[in-house]
Amino acid sequence: MHTPAWLERLMPHAVRMVDQSLRDLFVSDPDRIGASTLQVGPVHACFARQRIDAAAQAALLDLARERDIKAAFTALHDGAPVNRSEQRPALHVALRSSLGRTAVAKAAHAQARETFHAMGRLVDALRASDVTDLINIGIGGSDLGPRLALDALRDVDAGRFRVHFLSTADGHAVSRLLGELDPAKTAAILVSKSFGTQETLLNGQAVRDWLGADERLYAVTANTDRAAAFGIVPGRTLPMWDWVGGRYSLWSAVGFVVAAALGLDVFERLLAGAAAMDEHVLHAPVESNLAIRHALVAVWNRNAMGHDTHAVLPYDERLARLPAYLQQLVMESLGKSVTQDGRPVGCGTSPVIWGGAGTDVQHSFFQALHQGTDVVPMDFIGTVRVEGGYQDLHRAQMSNLLAQSEAFANGTPSDDPQKAYAGNRPSSVILLDDLSPESLGALLAMYEHSVYAQATIWGINPFDQWGVELGKTLASGLMEALVDPMKAVGDPVTRLLIERIRAGG
Ligand code: F6P
Repeated sequence: MHTPAWLERLMPHAVRMVDQSLRDLFVSDPDRIGASTLQVGPVHACFARQRIDAAAQAALLDLARERDIKAAFTALHDGAPVNRSEQRPALHVALRSSLGRTAVAKAAHAQARETFHAMGRLVDALRASDVTDLINIGIGGSDLGPRLALDALRDVDAGRFRVHFLSTADGHAVSRLLGELDPAKTAAILVSKSFGTQETLLNGQAVRDWLGADERLYAVTANTDRAAAFGIVPGRTLPMWDWVGGRYSLWSAVGFVVAAALGLDVFERLLAGAAAMDEHVLHAPVESNLAIRHALVAVWNRNAMGHDTHAVLPYDERLARLPAYLQQLVMESLGKSVTQDGRPVGCGTSPVIWGGAGTDVQHSFFQALHQGTDVVPMDFIGTVRVEGGYQDLHRAQMSNLLAQSEAFANGTPSDDPQKAYAGNRPSSVILLDDLSPESLGALLAMYEHSVYAQATIWGINPFDQWGVELGKTLASGLMEALVDPMKAVGDPVTRLLIERIRAGG
């Protein structure tokens, strides 16, 4: 594999940093903290505990300029066909901002606003009805974003409905859920950009049969014909478009369940938070651009330092679903081996994203992070202010976040090798002023833009996902073979396993 020239240029810095203690960097560079800290709206980010000295930082900023990430952000907002394998723009930014200057971008924003108002009318009618429970049926980007947003924000508004999610096709999940609900007081939203996803259609059929009536069924899709064929009553389907990727679609009518449960105003505030981050990312210079700085740290850890995985560690139970959301956003976007023009990318791309909410994870996998053989870079995420009682419990969360980040960075020596902490384990700390619709929107938009900046450095397409298609195609053929002995599909291993499944174990 041919190593890209930009990575060759970073390597002398990496070699220098291997033996450099983080502790000493603070002594030798008094400006380090100021130069490694950014505040953008409600988001405070501290990269001072990354193994990057001033010279390495300068090299990374040069890389961002050389790869012209700022121009890439302009192209994104203007609706250039940045998704080259599908020859289309990726205009998720137009769902929340009107920063694009072209007719394409303006038209996308107008369509988004029109749909937002149509969604508002459906939300009003639903909230005025006697429905008590909503089921969101969707998977991947049609599930993870709404789930995260509702979990994070449900304290902002008491929540008009009890909300449930069906994602994977699993009979136990369906029967457990439907067993708890009253079909006369339940509405369901089928969310599927393609309206062709097996899990969503199977779950949708099960729920439609159980509801026994179509008037409480809604759809969000880019394939309105398929939704109509499924039996969604006209006027209850909200559109999305091929220029919005599933994992970037929370801001579209995919957020219907969020708007219905928490109110259209809360959803609008989420969009406003993301729009403020869009504006920052589009206009801020490279060195003070939060998404670019975050992306440069990610590329440094992945390529210069050679770390294969990255942990996302929210110290706020309301953000417990953030690691799962970022798994799709980062790994489906950046899990590519070839560049946009089809050549081998020449270096590592997506790290494995994993994580979980502190402090639970301190008592499960942190031992390996502190003393294991592999170094795992981390994003710690916390909330400065929380409302209501139990402030002492919040202080416990914060003190643990601070303690862990410090312990990972500095370590502590011991004469007993079992008790020594090597330290030098890199982490970033991201603090939200509070957890509001605006700050959540800004945080998620920051991650989206960081992913795009990383993809720009690697020259890959973060907006397609061809790698998931093969398994989907095979699964649809195998579904029939599981019940029909005449269907001989699959390789010898699959056929053997099919026989075992058909035989009933
Ligand atoms: O996992 C592949 C994928 O296409 C994701 O990109 C998408 O979010 C998910 O499936 C669901 O797709 P759809 O919204 O079309 O049902």
